[in-house]
Amino acid sequence: MRLSPSGTWTFFWIVLIFNAMGCIQSIRCKPRSFRESIIVLEVNSSIDSNPTSIDESSNVVLRYRTPHFRASARVLVPPVAGKETWTVGWIQACNHMEFYNKYGNKGMSSWELPDLRDMKIKAISDSDGVNYPWYGNTTETCTVVGPTKKDTKFTVSMNDNFYPSVTWGVPVSDSNQPQLSSIRRDQSFTTWLVAINQATAETLVLQTIRWRMQLHIQIDPEKPLGQRARLMEPVAQEQPQILGKNEPIPPNAMVKPNANDAQVLMWRPKTGDPIVVIPPKY
Ligand SMILES: *[C@@H]1O[C@H](CO)[C@@H](O)[C@H](O)[C@H]1NC(C)=O
Ligand SMILES: *[C@@H]1O[C@H](CO)[C@@H](O)[C@H](O)[C@H]1NC(C)=O
Repeated sequence: MRLSPSGTWTFFWIVLIFNAMGCIQSIRCKPRSFRESIIVLEVNSSIDSNPTSIDESSNVVLRYRTPHFRASARVLVPPVAGKETWTVGWIQACNHMEFYNKYGNKGMSSWELPDLRDMKIKAISDSDGVNYPWYGNTTETCTVVGPTKKDTKFTVSMNDNFYPSVTWGVPVSDSNQPQLSSIRRDQSFTTWLVAINQATAETLVLQTIRWRMQLHIQIDPEKPLGQRARLMEPVAQEQPQILGKNEPIPPNAMVKPNANDAQVLMWRPKTGDPIVVIPPKY
């Protein structure tokens, strides 16, 4: 189902004030209609403080695991008069992706999102690939089926991290001689807390969060397995930003394909033309 992102989010007046203690209050104007009275009681977002961990146990690939981004919100949906169904939950899109694996002077492999790279689109859906436009359908969403007599309060939460494998050897060669010399990654995301009316597709943006994950791993492929990789800065990630003013959801953040299906692995040799190693899935 394609959902209109134009929505009526601009009519939803919630101002969040974050005080120095990190407590969160919500203030809103007098409700005039149902959509203006869905209330975000509390919203938390952070990136865990543990550094990225690196796993050199395989002689084929290096694996790393970044800290988790987390977002959770406590939401109040007032009594729903009619037979309306509202789903409230998290939608995420990737806005920027640099993901480079350097192999000495041979060249580099890179995971790319061609439409984002070529600036044909501003964001690409990071849905689980099944529950579009939602990021997931377990803790990530909650559905309120009307009519309801009382307020409905619930928490919706999500988390994300990277856990990729990068080959020690050049991906387009038959040799698995270790040549991987560095990994650099810089990705940005926007995560929205959204309410969608299932019947009308009316879409309300309740909260907007921006976050970024940066990574630099230096590798000495000459060293024995287990002693090659070293985590460089940033050892601690920038914390997510909960925006004071919501942002509209770009159309490609709501529909297929998601980042996972659209990404391609390129081999970019030092000299010569780039080669597609893994084409997009869709
Ligand atoms: C937000 O964080 C506080 C402090 O850790 C916690 O008590 C509260 O339950 C959290 N709220 C949500 C909605 O996750
Ligand atoms: C989540 O989505 C999957 C796939 O559509 C479905 O099989 C599953 O029942 C859903 N789970 C919940 C809790 O809605």
